[in-house]
Amino acid sequence: MLYSAVISYGLLVAIGVNAQSQSNSASASTAASGSISSSQQTSSGSASQSTIPTSTSDGNLILSGTAKHTTTALTGTRNETTTSSNTSSTQTSTSITETPTNVTPCNGHPLFCDRKYGNITEVAAHNSPFIRPGTAAANQALPVEAQLDDGIRLLQGQIHFVNNTPHFCHSSCDMLDAGPITDYLGSVYKWISTHPYDVVTILLGNGDYTAVEKFVPFLEATGLVQYAYIPPKIPMNITDWPTLGSMILSGKRVIFFMDYEADQKLVPWILDEFSQVWETPFDPIDRNFPCVVQRPPNLPDAETKMRLALINHNLNYEISLLGNSILVPNIPLLNITNNVTGFGSLGVNAQQCTEKWDHPPKFLNVDYYNVGNGTVFEVAAKCNNVTYAPERPCCGVAASDAPRALGVNRVLATAVVALLAGLYLS
Ligand SMILES: *[C@@H]1O[C@H](CO)[C@@H](O)[C@H](O)[C@H]1NC(C)=O
Ligand SMILES: *[C@@H]1O[C@H](CO)[C@@H](O)[C@H](O)[C@H]1NC(C)=O
Ligand SMILES: *[C@@H]1O[C@H](CO)[C@@H](O)[C@H](O)[C@H]1NC(C)=O
Ligand SMILES: *[C@@H]1O[C@H](CO)[C@@H](O)[C@H](O)[C@H]1NC(C)=O
Ligand SMILES: *[C@@H]1O[C@H](CO)[C@@H](O)[C@H](O)[C@H]1NC(C)=O
Ligand SMILES: *[C@@H]1O[C@H](CO)[C@@H](O)[C@H](O)[C@H]1NC(C)=O
Ligand SMILES: *[C@@H]1O[C@H](CO)[C@@H](O)[C@H](O)[C@H]1NC(C)=O
Ligand SMILES: *[C@@H]1O[C@H](CO)[C@@H](O)[C@H](O)[C@H]1NC(C)=O
Repeated sequence: MLYSAVISYGLLVAIGVNAQSQSNSASASTAASGSISSSQQTSSGSASQSTIPTSTSDGNLILSGTAKHTTTALTGTRNETTTSSNTSSTQTSTSITETPTNVTPCNGHPLFCDRKYGNITEVAAHNSPFIRPGTAAANQALPVEAQLDDGIRLLQGQIHFVNNTPHFCHSSCDMLDAGPITDYLGSVYKWISTHPYDVVTILLGNGDYTAVEKFVPFLEATGLVQYAYIPPKIPMNITDWPTLGSMILSGKRVIFFMDYEADQKLVPWILDEFSQVWETPFDPIDRNFPCVVQRPPNLPDAETKMRLALINHNLNYEISLLGNSILVPNIPLLNITNNVTGFGSLGVNAQQCTEKWDHPPKFLNVDYYNVGNGTVFEVAAKCNNVTYAPERPCCGVAASDAPRALGVNRVLATAVVALLAGLYLS
């Protein structure tokens, strides 16, 4: 059955084959988008592609490929302003029995293509680059490619300069140096360029309050800047954001935020975090996870509701030694912290925030997202009002020393070392 449908203001046309196999599957999981990724650059490929309009002209962006059960394509004009057609005028269904439906997942779910970026909850990997096994300075177990494969859509990490080169370092490069940002972001580039239906946010922590221009050549070297989204106004409120489908068609599907020293007049594609996003308290140790604003300070409630919310649901515990205190990820409680229900869980926290601020949080920032067998993605699916039905078990293959294997004694031992170094870890 061949059909087509306009799903987004007439800009986005989906053509599907085999409508009855249309999948309502994974919410935050991206197995489907992963499997269609390889055909982005090609204009021929699967047998059924003869039914899909293709174009190689610069003005058109054609994304096509073969998912597990369906062959789909998103087509549209790259230059949105020249498109005058809309839903009613461009609908060209060739089927009278099927309701036209988009079957191509955007960030893992077909429904998200037509939803605004600000209206989709996503799971964020707190300190995404810090995966060194067996150290209390790590916050994740799996490398960034696995994070993205599993459905993480915000990557966050703090940057410090080492000999004029920015590195992802945890608090200090003496503690955990994950290498030059170009290494990690180069991996992100590879993933982005092979996953044409995915929109990814990168939150850069400017650990040394370095001038934003200093980052530009390094970010340009990663290749990611070609995908960088430049907003039409400054700042963007929660409803200003475009749909994922429109970002995908325009090719501008990487959103860079920087916590401090962003200057959008100078570098328009590095967005200032705290004029558009707010955060709950960082390094939380309170299992109630109060859904209050810590940054930016003194934000009025009415303003808060107009911005994207990032909730820090990465539980720490405080170790006091010799009158000093340090914070380390609370690994023993991870499976409860990441859970869908129960005291201290991500699910309860997200629900509280939804009630307090009238809409679900945009980003769920968690440690060791892989602990809980996908529960963090189940929470996001609940926020998004879609069914959580992953096509494969979550989550990717862990590095040799998974967090569950990291005993408390070892955490404490590492923490003591950290204390001697005089550092906070989270
Ligand atoms: C859209 O295309 C027209 C004509 O090709 C061009 O003049 C205009 O600048 C383009 N707009 C954008 C936003 O690219
Ligand atoms: C679509 O076109 C109709 C008729 O021209 C118009 O009334 C309607 O507002 C348009 N819708 C959108 C979303 O542009
Ligand atoms: C999206 O918007 C709808 C309508 O305002 C709202 O009910 C829903 O909670 C929002 N979802 C998210 C994840 O923001
Ligand atoms: C966001 O700004 C637009 C103007 O760009 C305005 O129309 C809209 O009401 C604002 N949304 C909210 C939630 O304040
Ligand atoms: C949660 O993890 C701890 C170890 O970190 C383990 O002892 C406990 O059995 C786990 N609970 C469940 C219900 O899996
Ligand atoms: C997580 O919540 C589920 C119910 O949603 C419960 O069955 C399970 O025991 C909880 N896991 C932990 C580790 O508390
Ligand atoms: C993990 O999640 C999958 C999919 O939600 C489920 O089928 C499986 O039973 C879960 N495994 C465990 C050990 O909870
Ligand atoms: C959630 O989805 C169901 C259908 O799956 C719909 O009936 C309901 O209105 C949706 N709720 C919201 C808040 O969008």
